[in-house]
Parts: sequence; C-alpha cells; structure tokens
Amino acid sequence: MDGNGRWAKKHGQPRVFGHRNGVQSVREATEAAAELGVEYMTLYAFSTENWGRPKAEVNALMTLLVQTIRKEIATMNKNNIRLKAIGDLEQLPSKSHKALLEGIENTKNNTRMTLVLALNYSAKWEILKAVKTLAQEAKDGKIDPKGISEATFDDALSTKGIPHPELLIRTSGEQRISNFLLWQIAYAELAFLPIYWPDFRKQHLYQAIIDYQNRERRFGKTSDQISDSE
Ligand code: IPE
Ligand code: MG
Repeated sequence: MDGNGRWAKKHGQPRVFGHRNGVQSVREATEAAAELGVEYMTLYAFSTENWGRPKAEVNALMTLLVQTIRKEIATMNKNNIRLKAIGDLEQLPSKSHKALLEGIENTKNNTRMTLVLALNYSAKWEILKAVKTLAQEAKDGKIDPKGISEATFDDALSTKGIPHPELLIRTSGEQRISNFLLWQIAYAELAFLPIYWPDFRKQHLYQAIIDYQNRERRFGKTSDQISDSE
C-alpha cells in the first residue's frame, strides 16, 4: 500500500490525511478479495524502516491502526475474515499491540479469508530470525543441517502455514519490493499500479487479477511444456 503521502500532497493536505483515506482502500481491497474467493491477502502496513519517519506520522499511523482494528472487527466477523499479523509485533506500542492481539483473537475462527497485516515487518529481519532459529536447533542437536529443506525454512518464517503469494501488487508507481516477503515471492507475479493507495478500489483488484490470469506462469520451464500439460 504505497502513495498515501503523495495523494495527500496532491490534495493539499497533510500526509496523515492520506493514511486516513487509505483505510477505505483497505476495506475495498479486503471485501473484493473475499468476494472473489481469495484465501489469503497480506497488506504491508508498516515496515521496520517506517520507524524512521517523523514521530508525529508514526504516532498517527499507530493510532489509526488501533482505531481501524477496533472498528472493523465486527465487519470482519460478519464477512467471516480472520485477522493475522506478521512482523516484530512485540516492538509495537503496547496499545497497538493489544488492539492487534484482540483483533486476532476475536476473528480466529473465521474461515473465508485470512487477512495478514505486515506490521513492523521486514523480510530480511524475518529471514535472519529463521536462520538463527534453525542454527540454534542444529547446535542443540534437534535438527540435522543437511536436512534443512525449503519446507523447513518455510516453517521457520513468520508466514508459517500461509501459502506463498501468487500476485504482489504495489501502488503509487514505485517499482520496488522494499523488503517485503523476499523468500515467499520467489515466483510471485508482480503488478505495479500507477495509482496512489487511497485511490485503490475494487475495480483495481479485479483488473490486476485479470492481468495476472492472462500471464503464463512457467516456473522456470518452457512455454511448450506449460501448454502441453494443460
Ligand atoms: C503508505 O504510503 C504506506 C505506509 C507506510 C502506511 P506512504 O506513506 O509511503 O506514501 P508516500 O510514498 O509518501 O506517497
Ligand atoms: Mg511510500
């Protein structure tokens, strides 16, 4: 979700105005995904690097997080959506952390779609954490280093149990990954949309998915191999 600040600037407003308006886009994206039968959607809401922003903006984002989660729990339950979070959650302000855990707890039995919030998340942080966990287990004799597989590594990440994304969408025209799910997006299709996040509507998700469906995912194979197996 990128471009809140630029969207606000375009409207002659402070950056926080953009973040506030971005909440409606979160609603639209979540609702549209659930309606389409998407089972998992992960939103990159706050990166580890975002702590470096002005204090007032960080505070506003954290407050918005608490307010939004509290406000949307009922809707998530109505729509059978389960909330999850990835990232270094313990480092969040205690109010935000508490609201998040409440949201997760109150929606844990929902089954239609899992909405994952990446908060205080960085892919390099997550990968290093997994490496440390596995190294310690090897040192303790619990695992054989030779036996470490992609599946073992998957299970050491905070996305354990969550399928790798098939499609990654970034708004605002930036064409970067910015430390998001680096291991998990190895074969994801990438879509860079030239719109700011607060302008994102259901239609944009539909179009991104249609474009995705028209691409040929070869996973390193040739085009002929793919069409033969269909
Ligand atoms: C939203 O957009 C992303 C968040 C960190 C919440 P930005 O705040 O990065 O907006 P731009 O990139 O400055 O326009
Ligand atoms: Mg940005």
